[in-house]
Formats: sequence, C-alpha cells, structure tokens
Amino acid sequence: MKVQVCIIGGGPSGLLLSQLLHLQGIDTVVLERQSRDYVLGRIRAGVLEHGFARLMREAQCGDRMDREGEIHNGFEIAHDGVLDRVDLFKHSGGNSVMVYGQTELTRDLYEARDRLGGKIVHNAEDVTLHDLTSDAPFVTWRSGDGIGRVDCDYVIGADGFHGVSRKSIPSAVLREYEKVYPFGWLGVLSRTKPVSGELIYARHERGFALCSMRSHVLSRYYIQVPLSDHVEDWSDDAFWAELKRRLPDEVAARLITGPSIEKSIAPLRSYVAEPMRYGRLFLAGDAAHIVPPTGAKGLNTAASDVYYLHQALVARYKTGDEAALDGYSDRALARVWKAQRFSWWMTTLLHRFPDHIAYDQKLQQTELAYLFSSETAQRLLAENYVGLPF
Ligand code: PHB
Repeated sequence: MKVQVCIIGGGPSGLLLSQLLHLQGIDTVVLERQSRDYVLGRIRAGVLEHGFARLMREAQCGDRMDREGEIHNGFEIAHDGVLDRVDLFKHSGGNSVMVYGQTELTRDLYEARDRLGGKIVHNAEDVTLHDLTSDAPFVTWRSGDGIGRVDCDYVIGADGFHGVSRKSIPSAVLREYEKVYPFGWLGVLSRTKPVSGELIYARHERGFALCSMRSHVLSRYYIQVPLSDHVEDWSDDAFWAELKRRLPDEVAARLITGPSIEKSIAPLRSYVAEPMRYGRLFLAGDAAHIVPPTGAKGLNTAASDVYYLHQALVARYKTGDEAALDGYSDRALARVWKAQRFSWWMTTLLHRFPDHIAYDQKLQQTELAYLFSSETAQRLLAENYVGLPF
C-alpha cells in the first residue's frame, strides 16, 4: 500500500488528523494495534476546550457533540468548608468548555472516517517504523493474514505513551522530562444523576476529590489514593463513603450513589519528550507528552498537536512549503509546556502530598483564598481551563 501520510494509532488524535487531512485531499491510513471495540471501551477524558470543539466541527464531526454534549460556563472548587465557583465564561471573555466523553468523540470520528471511506487497519501487531530519516519511510506490521507494508511520505506517531513511535527515535536524539506524583486517582463511573450541574474539584485534608460527569445520567467521580492501593481493595461502598467525607456536607447529602460500571486507578505523571520530530516521523498527543488529569488537559493538548500538524501537512502538500513542518516541534512544544505548567499548578493546589509540612498546607489554603479574592487570578485560571489559543 502507498499513502501520503501513515498514522500510527487509532485513538482520537490519529482519527481526527486523518479526517482533517482527508477533507483537504490528503491520503492517509491509520494503523491501530487494538480492535475497534477495545478502543471504544476505554473510559477516558470528558472535558473539551472550546478550540477542540471547534476543530471537531471543522472536521465535520461535531453534530452529535453539539446535540448531546453540554456547555459548561464554570466549575466549583470545594475547600476549607466553602464552595467557590470559577466563572469561566465571565473570566475568559465569553468562552466555555464542552463536557462530552472521549469514548463518544472517538465513536463519532470512526463513523466519519467510515462514511468517507477512510482506511483503518485494526489489530496491527508488531508495527515497525523504517527509514525515518530517508525520503521514503515505510511501516510494516503483522496481522492475522500475514505481513502488511505501507510506503509513505510522512509517519505520524499518535500511538500513545506506550506506543512504538517515540521508541523509534534514537535515545541520543530524545530529551525526556518527567515528574511522577506520589499518588493516583481512583475513578468510578456510575449510571447515576450527577451530584451537580457543574464539575466540583475538592481540596480536603484526606485528599483530593472530583465530581464529574459524562451526561445527565452518567457520573464520573474520583478520589486521590496512595499508589500502593489496589482497585480490589475498594468496594463501591468504601468509595462512596470516602468521596462523601471529602465533599462539603450539603454536596455529600445530595450525592446519589449506585453500582460502579467501571472502576480503575490511574497514577499521576507529567512527561514531555523533545523534539516531537525525527526525520519524517512527527509525534502527536500522549506519544510525546502526558499530564496529570487535574486540569483536563491531556486530550486537549493532543488536539492542538493535531491542529498544528494538519496545518503543516496541508501547507506542504498545497504549496510544497516545508517551513511549518520544520517548525512543528517548537510550535507544539510551546503550547505543550503551558499545559504542563497549568496541570502541575492545579495538581499542586488541590492534592494532599505525603511530604507536605504544615507550612505547605498553609500555602495551598492561601493560594485558594487569594484565587477567590482576585479577579486577575481567576482570569488566569479561566483562560487556561477553557484552553489557550492555538
Ligand atoms: C473526567 O470527567 O474524567 C475529568 C474531568 C475533569 C478533570 C479530569 C477528569 O480535570
């Protein structure tokens, strides 16, 4: 097979890029290691920046999102016995976020690719990238009926943190920056009405908690847990009891609980790999960077990578100009690091750190008191939360 762009990874980044390129007449194939059902079974992020929602519409994939997703103009932070609201709309100059699950968004992208006859290969095992520094890179893989090969102009690594793409860059070339947090998030999905119309982030002496949602009837809750905890240690009852302890009394009193339909623990980690380009390989999303989930920036940062990459590839194919491709890594990383900073800030503000002394806790409380006493501070938070421009 021969295509212009070979995309490794059939998650939201790879599919969105392939759809945007297709609409500009650029031929792609997407190689995915898992089955489609597996990809669609993953419970991931739920908050889209307004710029990401716009990109979905531009990709002609925004109809269901606009029908079923929910615009959120603010969220709340519970701390020190009070519930304070961040007015995103007011403090970001009229922007907001869209609550729409990554699972649904991925489903919409698959449907759009199918509609336009997009080439997607599932269950591609042992994907291997070849001759990335030549003018004629190619990719091979193994599947049920033998060995596949695709020749292409460019390879896009959108295959996540554990994917093969980043690992194909020689270690002498790659600089890695990493911060591992000493706790994880235990998350529960339940078919219950969300406790509030907006998200509630809670800083509590027992640890962080978050009340989120996927729809009017599907709730997503998280509590901070030690890394030594196992999901099996947490019964549903124990989870709900601990969540309630960390929420203000009036919120806990109206929390509707129910059986969990998904329960998992995710460690919190920050990671950036530089540069995001090696020869004809360009990395996008989790393949190049990870954030802790506290600011909801993971999927959104992948979206800005996709935006920059699609612009650069369109420029290359329409005019032959490679300047934007050459500038891709620097441009993407400038925004990636701002999302790193914001996610680190929210994480540090709201979690209980095992090594924190009383002084650190006082600083956290002061930061929150300052935040809600200063419109300037709320503007900083709001403009980052709704998404910096890309
Ligand atoms: C989620 O709903 O999964 C979610 C929402 C906001 C966050 C993190 C996760 O900051």
